[in-house]
Amino acid sequence: MKELIEKAKNTHTLSLDEIVNILESNEDYLYTAADSVRKQYVGDEVHLRALIEFSNICRCNCYYCGLRCENPNTERYRLSGDEILDLAGKAISYGYRTIVMQSGEDPFFTANYLAGIIKEIKKLEPSPAITLSIGERSFEDYKILKEAGADRFLLRIETTDQELYKNLHPHMDFENRVRCRKDLKSLGYELGTGSLVGLPDQTLESIAKDILFFKEISADMIGVGPFIPHKDTPLKDASGGTFDLARKVIAIVRLLMPDINIPATTAMETLNPEGRIIALQSGANVVMPNATEGDYRKKYEIYPGKICINDSPAQCRNCIENKIKSIGRTISKDKGFRRK
Ligand code: 5AD
Ligand code: SF4
Ligand code: FES
Repeated sequence: MKELIEKAKNTHTLSLDEIVNILESNEDYLYTAADSVRKQYVGDEVHLRALIEFSNICRCNCYYCGLRCENPNTERYRLSGDEILDLAGKAISYGYRTIVMQSGEDPFFTANYLAGIIKEIKKLEPSPAITLSIGERSFEDYKILKEAGADRFLLRIETTDQELYKNLHPHMDFENRVRCRKDLKSLGYELGTGSLVGLPDQTLESIAKDILFFKEISADMIGVGPFIPHKDTPLKDASGGTFDLARKVIAIVRLLMPDINIPATTAMETLNPEGRIIALQSGANVVMPNATEGDYRKKYEIYPGKICINDSPAQCRNCIENKIKSIGRTISKDKGFRRK
């Protein structure tokens, strides 16, 4: 196993079978190797992205997600443009250089309305990078948002297993998601994608194919997190993903894609109190602390047990800085685009 990991560390390639073998094994050298590739290619700096959860209204019905439209128990909210701008301004004052605007697929926020907010955020000093995480839109919408100043876009593919995708997203279309990714790339966005690990009926081979897909499309950022079952969803009795499996996927992604950005996802920390720090030592180099205020954090319940629901943006900023410094890493002062 060590030789195989060593090979991946040096050549950044693995076959499907080799990835499955690594996923089946329990070899700590995987994390050592991923950590050393991370250090060599993207260094010790950790990029922080301030996450603003600006609407939990969603027209989709993804079977794993607490925000799905058919969940009547979620108390819905929408922030106003002014509230979003205010949170962005505070995040910048705490030193963040990237603002991530995340929401459900909420049609209320038309591209033109969002474009107005983006332009205002861009005028703040120092002007931040803006990442959007708002789901599937038309080419025209993506174009308006890009022209307004959006720099990056997060759209996880969730799973490349089309059968599984169809089962989990009854009214959605895998092909449209692929189309979105291509449109975003052609418009010049930095593109983040990623997947859920531990979905019902998801095999290790299926996860290995996800990893090869990430490499094939040369994504700039890959976010991987464990699936955590939510009581108000059809998957409430599923067993969910494990911390270890998600950690292995992160490490393999780092071996295969040495120069990309990889977040230590919040869902990792839900399953393990040191989850993000362990992920940062297993290949990850990005953290996305919550910059939403008050009650909204609780209401943005994609999965249960979300961390930081009673903390303020300032507390999270402080907390994560201390954690990062405690493992000898530093916080980046630049916008943290992919290093090529
Ligand atoms: N557990 C973990 N992650 C989830 N997501 C949605 N539902 C869950 C869940 N139950 C993830 C999806 C989505 C991201 C915003 O949240 O991967 O892309
Ligand atoms: Fe909506 Fe995203 Fe949840 Fe799907 S995962 S229901 S698109 S918020
Ligand atoms: Fe929110 Fe630690 S990151 S309190």
